[in-house]
Amino acid sequence: MKIFLAGGAGYIGTHTAVELLNNGYEVVIVDDYANSCPEAVARVEELTGKKVALYEADVQDEQAMERIMRAEKPDTVIHFAGLKAVGESVQQPLRYYRNNINTTLSLLEAMEAVGVDKFIFSSSATVYGAQNPSPYKEDMPKGLCTNPYGWTKSMMEQILADAVVAYPRLGVVLLRYFNPIGAHESGRIGEDPQGIPNNLMPYVSQVAIGQRQELTIFGNDYDTPDGTCLRDYIHVVDLAEGHLKAVEFSENHQGIDVFNLGTGKPYSVLDIVNTFQEVNQVPVKYTIGPRRAGDLPICYADASKAKAVLGWEAKKTLADMCRDSWNWQKHNPKGYRK
Ligand code: UD1
Repeated sequence: MKIFLAGGAGYIGTHTAVELLNNGYEVVIVDDYANSCPEAVARVEELTGKKVALYEADVQDEQAMERIMRAEKPDTVIHFAGLKAVGESVQQPLRYYRNNINTTLSLLEAMEAVGVDKFIFSSSATVYGAQNPSPYKEDMPKGLCTNPYGWTKSMMEQILADAVVAYPRLGVVLLRYFNPIGAHESGRIGEDPQGIPNNLMPYVSQVAIGQRQELTIFGNDYDTPDGTCLRDYIHVVDLAEGHLKAVEFSENHQGIDVFNLGTGKPYSVLDIVNTFQEVNQVPVKYTIGPRRAGDLPICYADASKAKAVLGWEAKKTLADMCRDSWNWQKHNPKGYRK
């Protein structure tokens, strides 16, 4: 079977490509390298000893998607492509709506034209919004998002739900990610943010290696055990295995199904900092700052549906996540740039 990874040169795409290739799937990666690079794909090939069919193209370009799908005849499309910086989405909402929604439309149109009918979508826990209490369950009504990035995910889920009604052959799996961190244990692939990281773990790693002076913890006056926010951090290799299970599930699947990909275990910002320091024996200087606008105090998954239906559950511990993030950072202080 052949799997088409739109945006497959990125953080989650490369880890998923490794799992797919190691399990006998053929992989096509299409990426415009807006937030990734060909070196990441070269390392996927190095880790697996297998070749990837690699295309440089903008996923918004419907004709290019159609051409590549006609040439490669994939069985399933996984859609990782998209802009994902929450703060930037507030500054540039139109760019976010245009880019993210166009990528989904162009993939669906190309699939319809070529006759590809399995689609797996990278969604986010952000679609539950502030109204629902954690742990989030898939059958909860979606909530109000706090930023345009979140709304694009919510809207793309709606587009996919409407598409399965009109195209009965179509099978869609929505994967709602919680907070992916960590890296492949080889240290050859990992998260490579451009500029100042928005997310916690890349920031912690860059402080530990001396590229940033100190971490600011955004608020310690939340109603949580240590006052800092709680999140469901999930190792990116566990997340990649979740995609493998979703691919197997989607083979005989029609309609639309949604799964949380999280561990179900909340950890605080201080848990991350303390575990990182402990397992890696490296100091992480931090200070307490004000709350960040839009942050929810608590966000974690009820992960039971993925276990029951996909036969998947996250196995790696917080210590594994912190160790592998540091291993990647240490061996690639400038990411993929040599
Ligand atoms: C956010 C988005 C989520 C998106 C994800 C990946 C929301 C509500 N959440 O998740 O949809 O998929 O980014 O881009 O829109 N923190 C600090 N200091 C820092 C950085 C983070 O204290 O320098 C804290 C945050 O306050 C938060 C936790 O660390 O409590 C995790 O933050 P982050 O990694 O940015 O992820 P989320 O905000 O949970």
